[in-house]
Amino acid sequence: MSRKAGRMFQRLGGSALLLSAMLFSAPMAQAAPAPGASAASGQAQFDNLWLGSAWYPEQWPEERWAEDLRLMKAHGANVVRIGEFAWSRMEPIEGQYDMDWLVRAVRLADRYGIKVVIGTPTDTPPAWMTQKYPEVLRVDSDGRRLGHGGRRQFSISDPHYRQLSRDIVSRMAQALGREANVIGWQIGNEYTDESYDPAARAAWVDWLKARYGTLDKLNDAWTTAYWSQTYSDWTQVPFNTDKGNPGWMLECKRFITSQWVAFQKNQLDAIRAHALPAQFITTNLGGLGWANRFDRYAINRDLDFASWDNYVGTGHLKSYRNGATHDLVRGWKRKNFWVMEIQPGFVNWAPVSNMLYPGETRAMAWQAIGHGADGILYWQWRNALNGQETMHGSILGPDGKPLPVYEEVSRIGRDMAKAAPAIVGTSPVSPVAILQDYPSRWTIDFQPHHKDYDQISVLLDYYAPLKDALGSVDIVEAQGPLDRYKLVVAPNLSIINDDLAKKLTAYVRGGGHLILGPRSGQRDDYDRLQPRRQPGLLADLLGGQVEQFYALDEPVEVGSGKATIWAEDLSIKASDVETLLRYGKANGWLDGHAAAITRRVGKGRITYVGALLDQGLMKGLIDGALEGAGVARDFPVPADVELMTREGDGRSIVILINHGREDRSVTLPRTMDDILEGGRKTSITLAAEGVAVLQDVRK
Ligand code: GLA
Repeated sequence: MSRKAGRMFQRLGGSALLLSAMLFSAPMAQAAPAPGASAASGQAQFDNLWLGSAWYPEQWPEERWAEDLRLMKAHGANVVRIGEFAWSRMEPIEGQYDMDWLVRAVRLADRYGIKVVIGTPTDTPPAWMTQKYPEVLRVDSDGRRLGHGGRRQFSISDPHYRQLSRDIVSRMAQALGREANVIGWQIGNEYTDESYDPAARAAWVDWLKARYGTLDKLNDAWTTAYWSQTYSDWTQVPFNTDKGNPGWMLECKRFITSQWVAFQKNQLDAIRAHALPAQFITTNLGGLGWANRFDRYAINRDLDFASWDNYVGTGHLKSYRNGATHDLVRGWKRKNFWVMEIQPGFVNWAPVSNMLYPGETRAMAWQAIGHGADGILYWQWRNALNGQETMHGSILGPDGKPLPVYEEVSRIGRDMAKAAPAIVGTSPVSPVAILQDYPSRWTIDFQPHHKDYDQISVLLDYYAPLKDALGSVDIVEAQGPLDRYKLVVAPNLSIINDDLAKKLTAYVRGGGHLILGPRSGQRDDYDRLQPRRQPGLLADLLGGQVEQFYALDEPVEVGSGKATIWAEDLSIKASDVETLLRYGKANGWLDGHAAAITRRVGKGRITYVGALLDQGLMKGLIDGALEGAGVARDFPVPADVELMTREGDGRSIVILINHGREDRSVTLPRTMDDILEGGRKTSITLAAEGVAVLQDVRK
């Protein structure tokens, strides 16, 4: 161990836990302009702060609609989403369409100054269709065909269902695409389940043929000599994602992604053929944001902006996890997004569907805005009098009158109206990014090696100290541009192929600091082990490698702290590599060996962290990395208070939320305009769930 590394080790082992800025120092990459800010100009979805809810006029007598819209307007709504489950109302009999009621609803909304987002109803095929054409029904991975009565019972791959979807969506677009009060479209609803029906299987075979060309290539990529899996006919290749060779399961995930992309494109083209260019097209992705049944970057590529559905379920807002999920969603398109559904207090599907605290619904809305949301829509306006969701939180009761949460939503409406002039045109801008990669996540999920290896928790372990230091943290895919970041963290990048290795190498040589987490670079694009040790194609750049990985059945000592679940034994292969952390007494194999190493390369730096570190060690690591990379910290805030920042058009916005249960006082670094309460402030006191929206007048 060099003397410098020795000093480093002592520091990490001591109480200060501060990494040397000198060791981590790397010349800075230049910050580029805010993502999204320029792309957003002139597009309605970013020209306002939007507030509204999901409304189902098909469930109510038409005479009631005006009262609903009046009550929406009164709480500050300026948008409503309609239509996404109403296929049987739009086409009650095959080929007999009725879009007039939708047009009437859209025009009535206009009279109340409320814009409309139209949902396409392909999540809920009507009963006449599933009876007459049972092939449109989804088949699950065990080969069972679903029946009618719920939703999501359709096949995303069946050509007939695609045709029927295109027909209904074309009719909708013809009827509504030139309505000025329609600002955009949502395709389907919360894409979730793929289908394993015969049409899907045939498409899988075609997809494989196009990708591999020959079976020899496929057999080689999946190492089918193992367990006598060699295929001599394309139709022998299995088709599922939960029971087999990771090589095919990884490809199956990519195939499913392609099916969703095609399912969506089918409708997107139908809308675009008739809709005004100003009308946006998005979809509301669910699954609490992190779901990975398919690649969400790919889904969003064809859309104008990303949106998702933000639910807490049981308990209360987990501020880091929820904030990180917003950042993930912002990263799907690298621009501002919408929360197309958010809970008005409580849901109906959680183990305990408790109510949020008073003020927490408002805090949740502002957290979304702080992380880059420009639209917030409650699910739902008023519950149907029957059906599966009569117990869900809503804004109106069964009597059609406001529930207690209406007042809080009204406050959000007043806040948003006050803040919109300052906030519109701004986006979160960060000097640091965390990389997120669906294929890498799939490979680790297929072979986790430790039941508690939770990749989202691993990512959040890095996210929390970054977020404590900065108002904004980006979470983006590895494939996009990285040069605007001074620091890039890849917590779970198991697949590093040639292109990515070149790109990350250029990033490091150009002055960036790359931190790789455990399991990095172990795999290629086919989920094959790289024929060299981790981090595979980056091992030479690192000047070190993983000698062996260990799933831990008990914590091990690292520096002055501990690692749990996972630890890798690192070795150094070049003289200029420094050891940042060493195992203490561990499992025998790891004792005294390196747990984290770092190397300055060109103008930048690469660091490899081989273990899942406790909070103290992680804070030391990240604080040192930020300092070394020259990332200026935002101003400090007390525990439980979240600081969020948005910038653009020469404006700088600060949003503060007290997620705790006690009052908190925040000293501002300079005088700021208090947008919600008025006046200029140098400090702010936030009650529990309190929110402050400030404009930094210095900038
Ligand atoms: C999802 C769906 C909605 C509704 C809500 C209930 O987000 O998109 O239709 O079922 O869940 O929380």
